[in-house]
Amino acid sequence: MARTLEWRTRTGVDTDHGRAATVEFDHVSKVYGPVSARARRAGSPPAPGAVNDLSLAIPAGAICVLVGPSGCGKTTSLKMVNRLIEPTSGRILLGGIDAATRELTDLRRGIGYVIQQTGLFPHQTIVENVGTVPRLLGWPAARIKERSEELLGLVGLDPAKYAGRFPSQLSGGERQRVGVARALAADPPIMLMDEPFGAVDPIVRERLQDEFLRLQEDIAKTILFVTHDIDEAIKMGDLVAVFQQGGRVAQFGTPTELLASPASDFVARFVGADRGLKRLSLSRVRDISLQPAVIGRLGEPAGEARRRALADPLPYLLLVDGLERPVGWLRDIEIDGDGVLTEAMAIPMSPLLSPETTLKDALSMMLDADVHTGIVVDRTGRVSGLVTTESIGGFLRETAVGATPAPEQDAP
Ligand SMILES: Nc1ncnc2c1ncn2[C@@H]1O[C@H](COP(=O)(O)OP(=O)(O)O)[C@@H](O)[C@H]1O
Ligand SMILES: [Mg+2]
Repeated sequence: MARTLEWRTRTGVDTDHGRAATVEFDHVSKVYGPVSARARRAGSPPAPGAVNDLSLAIPAGAICVLVGPSGCGKTTSLKMVNRLIEPTSGRILLGGIDAATRELTDLRRGIGYVIQQTGLFPHQTIVENVGTVPRLLGWPAARIKERSEELLGLVGLDPAKYAGRFPSQLSGGERQRVGVARALAADPPIMLMDEPFGAVDPIVRERLQDEFLRLQEDIAKTILFVTHDIDEAIKMGDLVAVFQQGGRVAQFGTPTELLASPASDFVARFVGADRGLKRLSLSRVRDISLQPAVIGRLGEPAGEARRRALADPLPYLLLVDGLERPVGWLRDIEIDGDGVLTEAMAIPMSPLLSPETTLKDALSMMLDADVHTGIVVDRTGRVSGLVTTESIGGFLRETAVGATPAPEQDAP
């Protein structure tokens, strides 16, 4: 039985989408070429297969990324879903129904397919390309046009500008957007994307990834997304299946689980020695416990403030205004005990962080400002606590329970 995971969409909504379907690989294997009679009698495909005993359960509306080195069976796994390749053994259930029992045209109508070299028809205009599937389905011309233009808008291409152009008149990134629009044309519950952003330069790729994640918040399809790039997998995936040679899954889990607790040395190496830093980009300031700040208010007697600050291990006092918004730091031993606290005493501020700031950005802002502390403020600008470089380090250690020690962790 495939492993199921507790899982929520990135928008925090539970999984049951009307227009998405679950995808389940149930002990799926693929061996290219003839299977020997002996293997068939034994009831199991011989190794090495392109895909070996793959079991994955993907909830409706999730992006599941298949990632791994070249040749480890990612594309083969994807193509078995729309039956461009038939499994040697095992079943693939789409919305609970065995794909092998479905009529092929009907099956593929419900699955959008995006590949790296989009496969746009060069002699058709963009709007004709996007309308390919609706045309095959015999939609009336007006509806095809309407839907195609809607989709172009959805992927960020102004129909007035792009509809009449030909693929050769578009940039790589624009063609890739057209490929996505075309795959979405018949509103399929499932999308297969095989290295969809692999052929564009890194800046365009990043933009396409961001756009696609925004789009997915609206369309909430079940998406199988193939890449060999672990950073792309971590960014795009609600769930990630790490493939290794021989078409086996080394680990299936959320990006955070992979980074915090790699299941094997292979996964630890594949996710990279910088997996701690990668985890920081997945966690936010609101995920860690804030350190309290010793607060002093503008106009308050300085002597009391000095005593409070000296009694606290942190050698600084955070000066705030009447609305508890940070003004600056005062070094405890430098506070002149006479008079009141004034803005003129303050030394420059730490970076201001919001609960939504990623820990990676928080750390980077602190390093840029050459300080160890960031001040967390709420929406009104009021201080809610402090984040320190140590508290970020502590967060990484605490949440890595059960991790296989990787070489970089052996160092003191
Ligand atoms: N049509 C085919 N005939 C025989 N072997 C194939 C065929 N397609 C792929 N393979 C082999 O199956 C393995 C998995 O390929 P593939 O699924 O394309 O890997 P990936 O997408 O992870 O790079 C590779 O060893 C590849 O050489
Ligand atoms: Mg491939």
